[in-house]
Amino acid sequence: MLRPAVHDLLSAGTRVLLVARRPERADAGAPDSGQLIPVAADWSEPEELGRKVREAAGGRPIDEAILWVHTPYDAGVHQALDPLLSPGATVAQLWGSAGADPNRSRPLPEQYRPPRNYRSVVLGFTRTTHGTRWLTDREISNGALRGLSEPDPEQTVGRTQPWSDRP
Ligand SMILES: NC(=O)c1ccc[n+]([C@@H]2O[C@H](COP(=O)([O-])OP(=O)(O)OC[C@H]3O[C@@H](n4cnc5c(N)ncnc54)[C@H](OP(=O)(O)O)[C@@H]3O)[C@@H](O)[C@H]2O)c1
Repeated sequence: MLRPAVHDLLSAGTRVLLVARRPERADAGAPDSGQLIPVAADWSEPEELGRKVREAAGGRPIDEAILWVHTPYDAGVHQALDPLLSPGATVAQLWGSAGADPNRSRPLPEQYRPPRNYRSVVLGFTRTTHGTRWLTDREISNGALRGLSEPDPEQTVGRTQPWSDRP
């Protein structure tokens, strides 16, 4: 679902560290900028994930991160990323809507307090002429990129209200 965002970042000349168990899946259709760095890692092994990201970053602090991590693994990932992020880094964390009301409150992870910028991006649904549907990969990716560029700490892609209208 974040492949379009990755490709947009590459097209803009951004160096992207893609962290997933099978990061090579982002390659399909990617612009050949030479800036896509696959990092094969698992959320459930956050120390190893942090070590691999550090190696891939080559000692350069990371200025922006888009996070999609299932709970409860997010806490370990925040801890692993903390020393690798720049002091003023921006983090956009996406929240899915499967099985849980996305309107519930989410505390700011302590690692991302100011001067870092943290944006919580809730993935909602969208209305159509025939009812509602979940978001497309492009819509989710646009929301993730907006999470990096817009300062609002609480963002929603599509809508979540009324939650009972979800598909
Ligand atoms: N609101 C909406 O409109 C909407 C629309 C679509 C999706 N969603 C939400 O988005 C979620 C994503 O769906 P999905 O089926 O693609 O789910 P997913 O299994 O969470 O996979 C998403 C990404 O996470 C990576 N990943 C999964 N487990 C990992 C792990 N242990 N370590 C590291 N990376 C891991 C996957 O790559 P690897 O498998 O390579 O690790 C993949 O790139 C759904 O649960 C849904 O709630 C919402």
